[in-house]
Amino acid sequence: MKFIFHIFPFLLLCLNVSAQTIEENSETFANNEPISNTEIAIIPEPVRLIKQTGHFILPNNITIQVGKSAELKQTVAFLKERLSVPTGYYINSVNPPATNPTIKLVINDTEDATLGNEGYHLTVGTKQVIIRANKPAGIFYGVQSFIQLLPKEIESKEEIKGVKWTAPCVEVTDYPRLGWRGLMFDVARHFFTKQEVKQYIDAMVRYKYNILHLHLSDDEGWRIEIKGLPKLTEVGAWNVKREGTFGDFITPKPNEPRNYGGFYTQEDIKELVAYAKERFVDIMPEIDVPGHSLAAIASYPELSCTPEAVNYKVRSGEKIMDWSRGAPPLGLVDNTLCPANEKVYVFLDTVFSQIAQLFPFPYIHVGGDEVARNFWEKNDQIKELMKREGLKTIPEVQAYFEKRVEQIIVSKGKKFMAWDEVLEGGVSPTAAVMSWRNMQHGLDAAKAGHEVVMTPTQYAYIDYMQADAITEPKVYASLRLSKSYEFDPVPEGANAKFIKGGQANLWTEQVFNIRQAEYMTWPRGFAIAESVWSPKEKKNWTTFFAKTEAHFKRLDIAETKYAPSVYDPIFGVKRSADRNLLVTLSTEVEGLDIYYSFDNSFPDRFYPKYTTPLVPPIDAKVLKVITYRGKNPVGRMMNMPIEELEKRAGKR
Ligand code: ACM
Repeated sequence: MKFIFHIFPFLLLCLNVSAQTIEENSETFANNEPISNTEIAIIPEPVRLIKQTGHFILPNNITIQVGKSAELKQTVAFLKERLSVPTGYYINSVNPPATNPTIKLVINDTEDATLGNEGYHLTVGTKQVIIRANKPAGIFYGVQSFIQLLPKEIESKEEIKGVKWTAPCVEVTDYPRLGWRGLMFDVARHFFTKQEVKQYIDAMVRYKYNILHLHLSDDEGWRIEIKGLPKLTEVGAWNVKREGTFGDFITPKPNEPRNYGGFYTQEDIKELVAYAKERFVDIMPEIDVPGHSLAAIASYPELSCTPEAVNYKVRSGEKIMDWSRGAPPLGLVDNTLCPANEKVYVFLDTVFSQIAQLFPFPYIHVGGDEVARNFWEKNDQIKELMKREGLKTIPEVQAYFEKRVEQIIVSKGKKFMAWDEVLEGGVSPTAAVMSWRNMQHGLDAAKAGHEVVMTPTQYAYIDYMQADAITEPKVYASLRLSKSYEFDPVPEGANAKFIKGGQANLWTEQVFNIRQAEYMTWPRGFAIAESVWSPKEKKNWTTFFAKTEAHFKRLDIAETKYAPSVYDPIFGVKRSADRNLLVTLSTEVEGLDIYYSFDNSFPDRFYPKYTTPLVPPIDAKVLKVITYRGKNPVGRMMNMPIEELEKRAGKR
């Protein structure tokens, strides 16, 4: 296919005959290439794509003709940069009229009802590209699809010579399934600089995400300047640098320097909000209360009901919760704001009035998750509050707190959003809910008339491991790409009217730097993007995975990190009738071979190929495996200790 792509485009004419839908456009390759036509690999899958004959060739002097130019200024600047940097071509933009512009961006005079606010129509002809939409957001998304039709080198951050800058001729009509297409980035557990957040935004807009949920406070850090509360950032933004497995770190000694972390000034936030807005992304702030609040309490201990809070420090990854009995956790320190203390509501009023000013997005997320109850259960102030307000249970105490917080949020002209635990003690009907523990909480909330965003752990927790724990950085749970791809935010029978959309969440306890944040986000971010944008009936795992491989190559050129974990084999273990270990190996994707060794040497394709369950030889210490596609290794070398397999198989 590459051969055809490079040699023939100049000979082909773009005729409106033999229109072919992309579904018909898959081919089998003899040379171990993935089974698909990767020349057209748009993620998320468009609503309708008709492939035409021929190719558009990008001229070295490009004219972009812009209709309502003021509205499209940022999109034009974006497109100019994306095209000019890798090609080195000259690009100018003009208002009509222009003779034969290369690219026309047109805001419809009469609205096209099918396209809505974010849809677009893209025509790539041999001589011209036209993107039409009702609104600027649609033009921006049309631009993203057009860029994905150009060769992968278009992702380069520097000029590349010798590339044939062509795109296949297509007609695309596209619009999103859902309006809320979010990614949550936890900048509290580890701090990510303003520049890194911009880098994250740059990657997400390629896949038509439109909401960046920033988790701005937690036990490990308070990340936003609040005027009049200077200790939040003087004290609350800093902890002790530790590396390894977060959660098991040794408690810092009093003299260890607290210089790891950081925060965004209000000017930084304005810059980020504007940067995101230019790319049609809204930033939703989250201040997580009443739990997850140790950074705020270390800054202002009077916000706690617990007198020992005067000695509390911002967490540096040491153990502060006992999860051995499940949720809710047992707090080893009291990381909750005190619902019985009026100072807390004064504090939150100050915080949320500034947050409301800084972030134009209508919703403020106030957390509400994983509140440890054990300190409240014993506290006299809480007991008094319960008596005074007629509260019978601790969840009702949280409900009292949430109602007060919602009053504050509403008084700032904003809408209240929180994690699904807030449903437990009863919450006002106007509260919007982010369903994370499973789909059911969200389905129930939608049925009860709450606005809901679906972000269930089972499909959308992209902090979880992507393959076996022997190769992945250790996290307490796993979520493979294929499972993420099954995400359906609005399943059959749901009260669809109230489900605003879906979101993937990147918690960063075990994510210490931006490269790892990218590794965790991609490719699962492709899967979630397709789950929230594309029509349900257009989703197809085989096609999606072929496109994913094409996008791996694009991310290589963009120098955006991604996880190759999908190529790693899946280990299964059981005991045979005579109690011996039986090891099964499988792959998440089709067409791969698995080679293995038990002799400590590195297997390649000349080693035994896995076909049936393996019984490890009596003295073997390690099973080494690697996947190939034909002659090419694609997976990573995995070293599985036999001892680990014995452990997984259970008692002999
Ligand atoms: C959460 O994952 N605690 C919302």
